[in-house]
Amino acid sequence: MHLGVNIDHIATLRQARQDVYPDLLSAAGECIKAGADGITIHLREDRRHIQDSDVSTLRKKYPKTHLNLEMAAVDSIAKIAVRIKPDAVCIVPEKRQELTTEGGLDVKGNIKKITSISRKIQRAGVKVSLFIDPDIEQIKAAALAGTDMVELHTGTYGEVSDPLRPHYNKAQADKELQKLLIAAKLAKSLGLQVNAGHGLTYQNVKPLARHKELFSEFNIGHNIIARAIFVGLKQAVQEMNNVVR
Ligand code: PXP
Repeated sequence: MHLGVNIDHIATLRQARQDVYPDLLSAAGECIKAGADGITIHLREDRRHIQDSDVSTLRKKYPKTHLNLEMAAVDSIAKIAVRIKPDAVCIVPEKRQELTTEGGLDVKGNIKKITSISRKIQRAGVKVSLFIDPDIEQIKAAALAGTDMVELHTGTYGEVSDPLRPHYNKAQADKELQKLLIAAKLAKSLGLQVNAGHGLTYQNVKPLARHKELFSEFNIGHNIIARAIFVGLKQAVQEMNNVVR
């Protein structure tokens, strides 16, 4: 099981003052020292946290560390991906006003555009993942689009499955977990690598992490960075690594 640490919110803190600290490269270094398998960053169209230079400096400083770039299906960012060549790109839906990525990609409704942008990125030797809800039709469409991986959106599961969150509901959490497992099985049977992410915490990742036969990678950010305020980034990543493994 691989842990990709999403460090967007280190950049959020930096951009809050448009300053140079906290240093993103040092943050990535702490995550790697703590045993993270990869670093995940989202280069948003509005550049609210990660900046173009972050992508290239991370790639240069840690050439051997798995770098996963999240991006919208737009040509301008695809060009950056093709030039910098992260190890993987995860295509996500993006709306300007959202606080974070809401809902999965509609692959079925945009199959031509998503297939074409995925091909461009794959031709540069970069693996492509599509961030989708645990929905049978979307998984079938993802396979048709020729993607290498899917990342299942765990946001709904995340909201109802952590006892500390206001919408915690055990019955609902079990239902959402089942949806994720069924979706993961289907995606695997179609030859896709299955990753998962969004809203995962030290608590609610446990039932998913038991299914090592289904999930290859978890991408987790906000909860780790929040924990790091109290215990430091290295320890926060080590703790998540222990839970995930
Ligand atoms: N995976 C994807 C595709 C995302 O868009 C995000 C949020 O940027 C994450 C994982 C990480 O989510 P969180 O910060 O809630 O752990």
